[in-house]
Amino acid sequence: MSVDLDAALKFAVSIAKEAGQMMRDGQARRFSQDAGQEEKANSVDLVTECDQQVEKFLVAKIKAEYPDHKFIGEESYDGEKVTDDPTWIVDPIDGTTNFIHGFPMVATSIGLAIGGIPVLGVIYNPFLDLLYTGAEGRGAYMNESIKLPTAVRSLDSLSEALVAVEYGSSRRDPALSNKLDTFKRLTGDKRDGHKMVHSLRSVGSAALNICFVAAGQLDAYWEIGCWPWDVCAGMAILKEAGGASYAGKMTEKGWTGEPNAAIMAGRKYLFIRQVPAAKGDTVRAAQ
Ligand code: IPD
Repeated sequence: MSVDLDAALKFAVSIAKEAGQMMRDGQARRFSQDAGQEEKANSVDLVTECDQQVEKFLVAKIKAEYPDHKFIGEESYDGEKVTDDPTWIVDPIDGTTNFIHGFPMVATSIGLAIGGIPVLGVIYNPFLDLLYTGAEGRGAYMNESIKLPTAVRSLDSLSEALVAVEYGSSRRDPALSNKLDTFKRLTGDKRDGHKMVHSLRSVGSAALNICFVAAGQLDAYWEIGCWPWDVCAGMAILKEAGGASYAGKMTEKGWTGEPNAAIMAGRKYLFIRQVPAAKGDTVRAAQ
């Protein structure tokens, strides 16, 4: 089934903007009422009424426009696998915890995968009015007019990097220890054998972390526990900006991830703008 990516991109931008207005309205309602939220897997895995409303809106629009395509959304997910069919993979509100706290790092994330490969991504933060887009062979853009350059400043060593990580919602071992060990290996002093990167950032939205890597505003982003709707749109944008995504696992020998083709391949992800030039100092080796 062939898909006109130019038309799909235009469509996805228009529904992302509408979803953004719903999020602004939802935030205004939350500020004026004692708005609540529900817990999913645990007390830090949250969903609001607005997440559900935005997802219903997006699924209705996508099904009307592309009745033959498949749909996977965070709030309606019921174990569907990503097949080879064109599949829209959507996070209505990525950064729900930020949304609940009124912290403006929140985005709607709309991705399209074909053959399991992310080919189109639209990520819109309505609170900062920041739009990131990318479609296969068409480049990646910020706010539609600023093309993200594929050549970026040279990073001689991982020690010069600004790296995003997230705590995510899985707070039990072994995941928690794995995250904390990685944070330590990245930030600790070189005299103790660590990488001592410039610093870590935790934006609270996987989609925005990936966009910031794509735009060269961050050098790398590492997280355990992402789902396809957290990463699909971002992968498409990052690839068009010259970056790479890896899915893999951490062993005592380091990161074993490979360039990612299938977005269900793993739930540990590494996104990079570029691999540092210094021998033996790759982002992968640091994991
Ligand atoms: C979460 C955010 C968070 C990341 C989690 C995601 P949600 O998505 O992107 O930054 O750490 O892994 O699940 O729940 O806000 O849509």
